[in-house]
Parts: sequence; C-alpha cells; structure tokens
Amino acid sequence: MINILTNTYHTYQIPESPSGIVELDMGCGKGRFTLALAERYRDRCILGNDLMLGRLRRLQKKVVSRKLDNVELLRASSLELAAFQLPIRSIDRIHLLCPDPWPKDKHEIKRLVCSDFLSRLRRILKVGGILHMATDHAPYFESWLRLIGKMSWFERADGASDDVADIQTDFEQLWLSEGKVVQHVNFRMKE
Ligand SMILES: C[S@@+](CC[C@H](N)C(=O)[O-])C[C@H]1O[C@@H](n2cnc3c(N)ncnc32)[C@H](O)[C@@H]1O
Repeated sequence: MINILTNTYHTYQIPESPSGIVELDMGCGKGRFTLALAERYRDRCILGNDLMLGRLRRLQKKVVSRKLDNVELLRASSLELAAFQLPIRSIDRIHLLCPDPWPKDKHEIKRLVCSDFLSRLRRILKVGGILHMATDHAPYFESWLRLIGKMSWFERADGASDDVADIQTDFEQLWLSEGKVVQHVNFRMKE
C-alpha cells in the first residue's frame, strides 16, 4: 500500500519480515529497482519512498500485479524520513540512486545530499548498515566522497552492493543508453 507521510510527524512502523532485513530505495521514482530488489529478496522488507504520488500509484499497481507482499511505498520526503519518520537504527541498506543532480550552480542548494542530510542518515541506518549511492553527475559524486570522507562514522564498503549490481534503475538505464557513466559507491555505518 501507499503510506502518506507528508505533512505528518508520524513515526512509520516498519512491517516485520521473515529475515528482519529492511532495505530502503530512497527517491524510488518509477521503481524499477524497488521491484527487482523485492523480487530478489522476498524475505526482506523493501521500502520505496518518493514525493511524486502519480509515480507511486503506478508503481503500486506493479507491486500488486507481481504479488510482492514485501513492498511498502511511502509518500514521504527523504529528508523527513531520515530526520524523524523512520524508527532509529531501523534500516539495513539504503539505496540512493540517481538523485536529482541540480547541475546548475544556482540550483546546487536544492541538492538532497549535503552534510545535514548525510548526518541524518546516521539516525536510521543500523550499525553495520550500508549506504549505496549512484549518480551520472561527476561533480555531485565527488562532493559525496568529500563530505562522507569527513564523517568518522562512515567507512568505504566496496562490494557491499555487488549482489544488486546487475539491477539498473530507470534513470540509470536512460543515462547508460546515452553513453553516460553512472558511478556507484558504498559506505558502512561503523558506529
Ligand atoms: C532522477 S529521479 C531518480 C529515480 C530513481 N531512483 C531512478 O534512479 O530511476 C529522482 C527521484 O527522486 C524524487 N525526489 C526528489 N527529491 C525528493 C525528496 N526530497 N524526497 C523524496 N523523493 C524525492 C523525485 O520525485 C524523483 O522521482
């Protein structure tokens, strides 16, 4: 189902799953990655959030038609989810894939990934949890490495998303078809 969390201070209660493992596809968009992840790991709870309700509705129809009872869609801002709408230390792996790069200098302030947002991810990731990020925008990618490099609670975790490296998101497919390079990086929460 689609859980509407926008304009609420509600703490979302994550459904239990056979494995107890929870993965979050942040800014899931049309949800190609969310669906493939849920099909691969039916014993895990797969959360997908986005602000665009139309996209979530279309995605929910696919969730139902594929009988994926391990997917929960959240209409929620990624910032608010991290800051207060998800339980503390509740997520095993966050996938932040192709977030809007806001490439123009004057729009840079709209980028989701900044030190404040990254610090808030610490609230929801379990110790040992993984942050998997990808973008086609090289300057944005470099800024992630710079910012996270200063955060002592994250360490590089190369290979931590190898099990899903064959799954391309909708935007990744598009960028690759245009000959662009999409860079991935993984970090582990140490403490
Ligand atoms: C470029 S698309 C990438 C979608 C998907 N991850 C992919 O790779 O195909 C970025 C998505 O993030 C969503 N988005 C942007 N800002 C957001 C925010 N603050 N909270 C939640 N979703 C957001 C947009 O609505 C859009 O669907």
